[in-house]
This record gives sequence, structure tokens and C-alpha cells, in this order.
Amino acid sequence: MKKFNNVIVRRPCRAMVEGITSGLYPGKPDYNLALKQHDAYIEALKQCGVQVTVLPADEAYPDSCFVEDPAVLTAKCAIITNPGAASRNGEKVSIEEAVRKFYPEDRIEHIVNPGTLEGGDVMMCGDHFFVGRSARTNEEGIRQFSEILAKYGYTCSEVKLEEVLHLKTGVNYLENNNLLVSGEFVNKPDFAAYHKYIIPEEEAYAANCIWVNDTVIVPEGYQAVLAAVKQMGYQTLTVDTSEFRKLDGGLSCLSLRF
Ligand code: GLY
Repeated sequence: MKKFNNVIVRRPCRAMVEGITSGLYPGKPDYNLALKQHDAYIEALKQCGVQVTVLPADEAYPDSCFVEDPAVLTAKCAIITNPGAASRNGEKVSIEEAVRKFYPEDRIEHIVNPGTLEGGDVMMCGDHFFVGRSARTNEEGIRQFSEILAKYGYTCSEVKLEEVLHLKTGVNYLENNNLLVSGEFVNKPDFAAYHKYIIPEEEAYAANCIWVNDTVIVPEGYQAVLAAVKQMGYQTLTVDTSEFRKLDGGLSCLSLRF
């Protein structure tokens, strides 16, 4: 099934070494290696049949390669978010410029203060959107998001986060009713209706795989998850994301797919 025609990514900047990190995956990112991994990521996306728009690096924002957070792009509208991380909030300005090339003015919506929301907390499952209430996404942000979605015929429900950074750090939808779930999301009633593959604890990072037009991109080095995704019948590609992992970033964080 071809669902996505376009992807937006942003090149990592040198300042990424100062990006936000929980320290869960220790070490400073190697910038040159990050660039190579980003190249491979773009190539993998192209293999999935999408047109990739590559935005230039933005040294003002160390985490700006994680383009998923300042916008949520749907088939009917674009929602420019209001990132809850202060050092990332300004990323919304340049992502809006990029998004304007794809959506008409009256289909571009905004989350505004005091609401905060980051795209990493949003998981699209058909016409329903799960939104993580996290350190970055607050109650008012979810209220605004839900109101915007309703205008376009979409529904939304909140998932409370207790441990991880973003919702999609621990749960990701692979279409066809299939979810990858890890840690705090394994037993959440919110996901009871889905077929769940429970990620082994030692491969928790690989909960963050992305489905792109029937291919699932899996982070390199997670054999159990890779085997499980193949077993579910998907074509797979792997990409090494070691340098982004040091900033708690994964495959979904690095692109907007629409
Ligand atoms: N380093 C990615 C983030 O914390 O937003």
C-alpha cells in the first residue's frame, strides 16, 4: 500500500553534539558518522518510494535533525506544534516554511501557548491519533490538538507517559493492526485492540521502527525485532542510528512522512 509520497528530513548540524540527552545511551555523537548514517537513512526512504526533501542543517538548534517534533503532517492538514523543550521551540518556524510548500494556508494549523506538543508524542493509526502526555506535551496541547483533528474528521486519545521521552520511543504502528510495544506500553489498555509484538527489554530502542509504504525500516543491531518484523510479513531495511540514539533519537524522529 502506498500511503506516503513525501518525506521531509533535515541534515544534522555540528551543534548536534550539544543536543538534549537523557544519557541512557552514553557518549557524544560523532558528527561525521551521523552524516553518513543520515545519508543511509535518506537512501532507505527513497527505496520506499517517497520523494525526500532535505532541509539544510540549522546550527541554531542542536536537535533540529529530529524534524518529527515541530510538526505533525496528516493527509488532510499540517499541524505546527509548540515543542515543550525550550531549546527546541524555535524549530517550529523553519519547519513551517518547509511545510508551506506542501499544504495550502487554510490547512496549516498551530498549537499555541500555553499548550505544548511534540510530534514524537503523536502516533497515527488510520484516522485515530494516540497522543502521549509527557514532559514535552501537556494537557492543553492535547486539548488543542484534539480540537484541530476533529475539524478534519480525525479522533484522538491521550496516553499518559511515565518513563520514556516520547510516546513513539516505546510504541509504533506498522499499519495492518500491528504495533511494536515496549516497556510501559505493553499492558496499557489503550492498545488492547491491536496485534502487539512485545519488544524484548534489551532491544527496547528498536520499538522505534517506521513503516513506509509496506517496508519497515528497523534500526541496525536489533536481531529479535528485525526477525519479528519479517515474520509479520513486511519487507525490511536496516539503518544504523547509533549517533542519533545518543540523543534519544530514533528512526521516526528523523523524518516527517506524509
Ligand atoms: N534529543 C532529542 C530531544 O530530546 O528532543
